[in-house]
Amino acid sequence: MRTDVVRLGRLSGERTGEMMHFLSSMRSDRCIAEADILVDLAHVLMLEKQKIIDPDIAKQLLSALLELFDEGIPEEVFDDRFEDVHAGIESLLIESLGVEVGGRLHMGRSRNDEVATCIRIKLREDLLKQMSALLKVREVLVALAGLHIETVMPGFTHMQHAQPTTLAHHLLAYEQAFSRDFDRLRDAYVRVNQSPLGAAAFASTGYPINREYTATLLGFDGLVANTMDAVATRDFALETLAGLSILMVNTSRLCEDLVIWSTSFVKFVSLDDAFCSTSSIMPQKKNPDTAEIMRAKTGSVFGAFAGALVTLKGLPMSYNRDLQELTPHIWRGMQDAKESLRLLIDMLSSATFDTGRMKEDAGKGFSTATELADTLVRNYGLPFRTAHTIVGRAVQKGDLSLFTLEEAAQEAGGGISLVAKGLTQQNIDDVLDVQYSVALRRATGGPAPFAVRIALEERKKHLDQDSALIDRHLLKVSKAREDLIAKARRLVA
Ligand code: ARG
Repeated sequence: MRTDVVRLGRLSGERTGEMMHFLSSMRSDRCIAEADILVDLAHVLMLEKQKIIDPDIAKQLLSALLELFDEGIPEEVFDDRFEDVHAGIESLLIESLGVEVGGRLHMGRSRNDEVATCIRIKLREDLLKQMSALLKVREVLVALAGLHIETVMPGFTHMQHAQPTTLAHHLLAYEQAFSRDFDRLRDAYVRVNQSPLGAAAFASTGYPINREYTATLLGFDGLVANTMDAVATRDFALETLAGLSILMVNTSRLCEDLVIWSTSFVKFVSLDDAFCSTSSIMPQKKNPDTAEIMRAKTGSVFGAFAGALVTLKGLPMSYNRDLQELTPHIWRGMQDAKESLRLLIDMLSSATFDTGRMKEDAGKGFSTATELADTLVRNYGLPFRTAHTIVGRAVQKGDLSLFTLEEAAQEAGGGISLVAKGLTQQNIDDVLDVQYSVALRRATGGPAPFAVRIALEERKKHLDQDSALIDRHLLKVSKAREDLIAKARRLVA
């Protein structure tokens, strides 16, 4: 039975299975197992280049590592009896190559810099996937907005009918929020993609290693220079989880809108059956469960973020084993956010909007009263506060007819006669029209079709830029990976 090579010297005493299970990070290390092989390959290539190990030793190590890369890591490596996947792989190599060869893999490094490097490699891959998914969500929102530039609907504040807007305007509000979420992940990526490798335990090493070389081989954009910080920090993970948490807030709010919109008293949207569930007792039910679960996953992502924050906050410099317990929070948070976004793309694109219902509701609750007050200002020279008071009083009286407005003006407007100023019922009817009210709101970012058309063009440009950025990152990372494997194969051949 293969033993954990790390424990051979210093410690004695048997450990129970329960103990080893408790201490091992193996369950969550499956996520970083492949990254670990890449890190091992880069490390051995560097040791060889720096003449720290003989080419013949390097060849044998690389050959065994490439076999793991090509064939997959055998299941036995993932046994709990190893503290982690790093110890598991090293133990495997020592067993298969002998200690004379396998025993030289770990020169000039520690599991502390190794694990931090692996986490960053896996996390950058996840971040790029998440950013691509976010891009798709935004594309769907922009495409839907393009179809609904003229679709008037009620806009709400305090969940009360406020002013009419358009569905396009509403959808673009979410797109803009998701675009900031994209920016936050993009910014986190910059700090995730830095190499801690070569920091060793925390004080680097006396061997003449070349940190810049391993960083390049692994597709990093630079180094986490100070070696103590390099092994101690997980703030790159906090940034990522913070970004994911905020992204989930926006996702959850959109889900909440969809849940409300699909109720029988609103009926603005019908979600595709595939995203809904029914009741085991009430045969008529169609419940928006996917949106509800996403709303709840938001809490799980917050939990992951909170767990990571709390794990980190009391730790002295530099590496502490507590860090091992932080890592699963990263993958959990990422997994929930990833699953949510992937489903959100299809839930949105398959939703059917009831534009008739939206239009029917757009004028409810005196939603164009602001426009009427603005008209009294524009056409009849009233101060806005006076106009606001008159219209408010008329609403209190129950309608916005010429008769009621005139009464309100007499009572609350200091005896003003709107009729004497020339206001007619036709004027009132014209400005209370929802389409008219929306069309006037042409300021940058407003709901008027004129403004939305301009916004759509800008958002599309933004999307193209963001998509090009992801392509650049993906290309750099995949090219580095190909080069690394090719270099290793060349040395072995
Ligand atoms: N499994 C450990 C982790 O996830 C790797 C580093 C272990 N280092 C140590 N000194 N025990 O953080």
